[in-house]
Parts: sequence; structure tokens; C-alpha cells
Amino acid sequence: MTDDLSSLGAETFAAVEAADNLASLEALRVAVLGRQGRLTSLLRALGEVPEDLRRERGQALNRLRDEIASAIAERRALLQAAAQDAGIAAERIDVTLPPRPSVLGLIHPISRTIGEIVAIFGALGFRVVEGPEIEDDWHNFGALNIPEHHPARQEMDTFYLPPRGTNARRVLRTHTSPGQIRTMTAAPPPYRVIVPGRTYRADHDATHSPMFHQCEGLAIDKAITLGHLKGCLIDFLRAFFDKPELPVRFRASYFPFTEPSMEVDIGWNRQSGELGQGGDWLEILGSGMVHPRVLANCGVDPGEWQGFAFGMGIERLTMLKQGITDLRPFFESDLRWLRHYGFSPLRPPILHEGLAG
Ligand code: PHE
Repeated sequence: MTDDLSSLGAETFAAVEAADNLASLEALRVAVLGRQGRLTSLLRALGEVPEDLRRERGQALNRLRDEIASAIAERRALLQAAAQDAGIAAERIDVTLPPRPSVLGLIHPISRTIGEIVAIFGALGFRVVEGPEIEDDWHNFGALNIPEHHPARQEMDTFYLPPRGTNARRVLRTHTSPGQIRTMTAAPPPYRVIVPGRTYRADHDATHSPMFHQCEGLAIDKAITLGHLKGCLIDFLRAFFDKPELPVRFRASYFPFTEPSMEVDIGWNRQSGELGQGGDWLEILGSGMVHPRVLANCGVDPGEWQGFAFGMGIERLTMLKQGITDLRPFFESDLRWLRHYGFSPLRPPILHEGLAG
């Protein structure tokens, strides 16, 4: 290799090594290999080289061009990898940085109550199931042992929907109890489920909304007794209201789908609205041992299986716990009300932190 080539080579390789960013490397490439580049000019001048030397010089130039090109490519790959690493390092997110709660939305009190119910019954081994809000007569009434002319049908102020095709009469479910039927007809026992969701009755005043929420519960196994029902609901109510001493009373009642049936009351002070003491009782939910006929309607052998069911009103529970006295703003979407009564999504209901929120 002639001297001019070896010095061009040495200079260029040193400059490639020294290039510490992609832009200066590219400038170097253009200066040497570009159209006006030093090496390109030498190649172009090949014609002026005496014929006996031309071939050798040509080969040397081509070799040098290839070596420089691959040195530049290698260096470029290195610099690109370094640039990528630097980019990743610069974009690192500090996951320990607290978010800015002011830009977050809030959880509606009804959703919060459902979350708390799920947390408590989840810890007791219940899973959540859902059912349709448009039900048929059989799931909402018939299978629950509420026959055609039963007074319970009138009491429930049902919204009926026009029949569709050959479907039986459809209704907006008046309670979450069809969730019992759907659970039992879907799979064999045992069951331990809760069914939170929307329910509908043609009723509208300060304490009733045509759309409201209930949560059903169902526990069926070989030897579930009234004792389990009581223990379960007492545990639930005391955990939900965060009052370990909350007085709970079971009062005989009637539901077509349970036998025996019980209304559950909690102790409170009617005057002050304070829960837990005061000698007054407040009805909070309905419950009972699932009627054998309901089990049989669902193909569950009442000779082998038994258990309890309950149903509670979620608005009622929420109003009592949060000290809300009017039902209407729950569904008016007034942001001032929601900002006042809403819950931070960053504080989900977790039992071991307490549910007081
Ligand atoms: N479905 C009843 C209601 O809406 C509540 C209930 C459910 C009672 C389960 C007993 C058992 O009033």
C-alpha cells in the first residue's frame, strides 16, 4: 500500500474510534466515503495512474474503502446501542413517586359499598356472581316459590316488559334473588355466592328509587344451619359498620322462598341516627333457610342439600354507614355530591386496613 493510502487509513480509523456520537461519525463517513470524499476522489483519479500500477492501486483502494466502511458500521452499531441505553435510562419511571390525587376521579358510594361487601364475604369464602337485569317470570318469581297470584308480586311493583318472540313474560328484576336460581341451575352444589347488582321497582320518593341495588347471598352445602346464617350475617354487619359490638337481632318474618324466614335488625338510636346503641332497632336485611321447594325447582335435592339465603339493600347500608339522609342525590350525578361522598380509588376496601375508608 502506498504511503498516502496508509496515512489516510490510519487517520480515518483513529477518527472512527474517536467519534463519540452518531452525527460526527456520519460527518466522517461523508468526508471519506461520500461523493466528494477523500477516498472517493482517489478512486476517481485512478484513470490518471500509470497503467502498470493502476490494477494494484485499484485493489488497494477498494480494500481500504471496505475496511473503512465496516469500521464505521461497527462504530455506528456501538453508538446506537449506547444511545438506546441512555434513552431508556432517561425515560425510567419512578414507580415509588406518589400520584397526584387531585386529577383522579372518585368511587361512587354505592360502588364502594359493593366493594366492601365483596371484601367481607370474599374473606368468608363467597364468590361474586352476576345475573341479567332483564329477567323472565320464572327466575324472578316462579322458581322462588312466588306463584302467579301471590301477593308478593303486587308488593314488588314490578316493571313488565313486552314479550319477545316465544319468551315468557319478561320483567326488570325486582330483587337479586333470581341470582340464587341462576346459580343453582348452572352447576351442582355446594354454593357460596353473593350477587350484587341493580334491581327495579316502580316506586319513587325520598326513600325509594325505581332503580336501586341489592346484594343477594346464598350458601348451600350438606349441613348448613340457621347457626351459620346468624354467624355469617353478624360477622358481616359488625365488619361492615366497623363496630365489633354492634347489636344484631333476628326477627321471625316471611318470604316465600325461605323457611324459616328472618328479618335482621341492628341496634341504633333513632334520635341521633347513631348505630350500635340507643335501644332502637333498624331493619337492615331479609334472610332465611332456602325453601326446599326452591331447591327442588332448581334440581337440587332438598333431602341432601340445605342452606341459607339473604338479601340486602345497598343504598340503605350506604346511607347508614356514611350518614347520608337523602336517597335521591345517589343517582343525580351532581359532582359536588360525588366529590363530598366519593372514595379515593387509591384506597380500595381492604379488610386488614379496616373498611372505615
Ligand atoms: N329478595 C328479598 C327482597 O327483595 C330479600 C331476601 C333475599 C329475603 C333472600 C330472604 C332471602 O326483599
